[in-house]
Amino acid sequence: MDISVEKKKFESLLDAVTTASTAEELELSYLGRNGLINTLLKGMKDLAPEKRKNAGQDINIFKQEVTKLVKEKKDALHQKEEQNISIDVTLPPKDISHGTLHPITLAVEEITSIFNKIGFIRMSYPEVDWEHYAFEVLNMPVTHAARDDFETTFLNGDTDTKLGKMVLTPHTSNGQVREMERLGSKPPIRMINIGKCYRPNWDATHTPMFHQFEGLCVDTDITIANLKGTLDYFVKSYFGPNTEVRLRPHHFQFTEPSFEVDITCTMCKGTALIDGHKCKICKSGWLELGGTGMVHPNVLTAGGIDPSIYSGWAFGFGIERVNMMKYGIDDIRNYYTGDIRFLNLF
Ligand code: DAH
Repeated sequence: MDISVEKKKFESLLDAVTTASTAEELELSYLGRNGLINTLLKGMKDLAPEKRKNAGQDINIFKQEVTKLVKEKKDALHQKEEQNISIDVTLPPKDISHGTLHPITLAVEEITSIFNKIGFIRMSYPEVDWEHYAFEVLNMPVTHAARDDFETTFLNGDTDTKLGKMVLTPHTSNGQVREMERLGSKPPIRMINIGKCYRPNWDATHTPMFHQFEGLCVDTDITIANLKGTLDYFVKSYFGPNTEVRLRPHHFQFTEPSFEVDITCTMCKGTALIDGHKCKICKSGWLELGGTGMVHPNVLTAGGIDPSIYSGWAFGFGIERVNMMKYGIDDIRNYYTGDIRFLNLF
């Protein structure tokens, strides 16, 4: 028995192999129970005892080589065969997944259309604006502590003597006086300003960029009754006909009087109970929607409108917030992590 001759023979046989199944046949003829290697091992008993040890080592090395080379060949051929699988053009196509509009885009469209129906027009005011529009004209002068409530990102750049610094708007209320100016300070005004806002927070209820929609209505004889009627109309259109609204006294610099708006919880329908247990979403039957109030006379004056003739109301609500309330979503970050499983829910 000459192992080096056997090895050469094996290599030339392996070279000639072109399919994975013939590689397997070759493997069997060398490594199988009745294959060459086992035959060689069995033949060792006929050898002179002093030759057995070396012969045994040679056969084992040969066995390892055959095992390794056959495996490599099989792997390469399998891979090639997979690539070569022919295409059956008569097969039905795979389902192509379609893109959808982002849930916030859908909410913006829905809210816009609800307000369009009662004569409000959609505006988009700058998301990078002067302090003047974001604070000053909203009755929040530079030194006023209320400005701290709106954690604000200031941009590098020169300070304008009249307009102040530029900021990433922390709310859409910057659109109020801009809209008064656009209309030449001539009411009636019925605006819904939808835009991006920025505040440096990131947790289950805050993202550094979020959206608000800001309602503004200015005319003669505008009262809290008009405000409440409009909120009632919006809430019933967006959340469903059985949703109720209440106003809670609050404070904002740009409205007087000011309120926070609550609606009956969308999960427990205002009962505070789910299956006999306290509702975990609201605990009280009510959920907070956002801020509102009667436009402060100083704001009307800043927009060139005479507060002794005209009055108005305004509100500012978060789009993510109302959408979360409507669909029972408990983490705002879902909107911005790009998880396709979340986005596909809408
Ligand atoms: N700008 C306020 C905020 O972001 C919300 C707000 C409250 C807007 C009362 C208003 C309003 O127009 O009247 O927290």
